[in-house]
Amino acid sequence: MLAIVLLFLFLVSLQCTYIEIEQVPKTHAIVLSRPSWLWGAEMGANEHGVCVANEAVVTREPASESEALLGMDLVRLGLERGATAKEALDVIVALLEEHGQGGNYYEDGSSCHTFQSAFLIVDRNEAWILETSGKYWAAEKITEGVKCICNQLSLTTKIDAEHPELRNYVRSQGWWNGDSDFNFSEVFSLADDHLACCSGRESLEKQGGDVSAQAMIDVLRDKDSGVCVDSESFLTTASIVSVLPQDPSFPCVHYFTGTPDPSRSIFKPFIFVDDVKLVPKVQSPSFGNDDPAKKIPRFQEKPDRRHELYKAHEWARSLLENDQDKGQKLMRIMLDLEKQGLEAMEDILTRTEVLDPAEVVDLFYDCVDTELKFFK
Ligand SMILES: *[C@@H]1O[C@H](CO)[C@@H](O)[C@H](O)[C@H]1NC(C)=O
Repeated sequence: MLAIVLLFLFLVSLQCTYIEIEQVPKTHAIVLSRPSWLWGAEMGANEHGVCVANEAVVTREPASESEALLGMDLVRLGLERGATAKEALDVIVALLEEHGQGGNYYEDGSSCHTFQSAFLIVDRNEAWILETSGKYWAAEKITEGVKCICNQLSLTTKIDAEHPELRNYVRSQGWWNGDSDFNFSEVFSLADDHLACCSGRESLEKQGGDVSAQAMIDVLRDKDSGVCVDSESFLTTASIVSVLPQDPSFPCVHYFTGTPDPSRSIFKPFIFVDDVKLVPKVQSPSFGNDDPAKKIPRFQEKPDRRHELYKAHEWARSLLENDQDKGQKLMRIMLDLEKQGLEAMEDILTRTEVLDPAEVVDLFYDCVDTELKFFK
């Protein structure tokens, strides 16, 4: 008799925006601010108080048009797989090395827009700034002070982790002689790119060290500084402020607008608890495999991806523009609603008794519902 042993190896795969990668056995709960056509996210948080955000940057190396992981996919992968900021960083650089980054950043069938990626990776205790060019990367650990990232490289000579071949590579390219201090921005920036025009920095400095949720909201609303944009060609699409108390007995609070232009959107609080109520009204419709982002050639059409709150907010924005009186009244009501949310969270973050999850399970859901009522 012949004994046949069949060995099955179950490798579950995970479909990212453009490529499939191997899934891991366990992923963390996440909340994302996501361009609705792609798999990843511009920014988000996970149940362990890790937050990751992404900026597109341009370096002296052209970004690849070949479909690979997007910087935004790496944001989500870092959140799904990292229980601390450092773990998320390790996940992101390992996947970057294995799969590379590349592919169209915009939902545009007529041309391919590619970028390199910079990341802000934060937990209750520390933050990392990670900047990449192709599969090469460097990172700085931040444990105090105020920092911002923007569409330019910001790392200079303080580098706390890097790709093992980074320095050999740039030497072989003739971008660094090996003798002078290794300055990441200097080596990788385009010649005409100047540091220090990060518009957020000035606005942060105006807050004079105040890093309260309200101060950060004010920074994100600041149109004069250029942080908040609503020009013809460009719109700040979404904003998040996260409060991550160092004492783990307090919950992390994440404020999402879920709608564009934070000077005319309000920040609504979200707290991770078991069975947190999902909010379909801020989820864009799903088109499954018929999505033009998934069919080859891609992006031949642009479906209506607006969610319910987005549509209602568009109406409110046009009211703000066209009917001063009514618009201002509505804006006052909305800001009052936002203030109530901030005060309720302030109470949760300062009181001594442990938070009852039942108290916040519907929190974001109810805020969105209330906002929608005012838009009707
Ligand atoms: C690193 O290079 C940038 C860009 O050339 C420059 O502005 C910055 O002062 C340099 N920093 C250090 C610490 O050398």
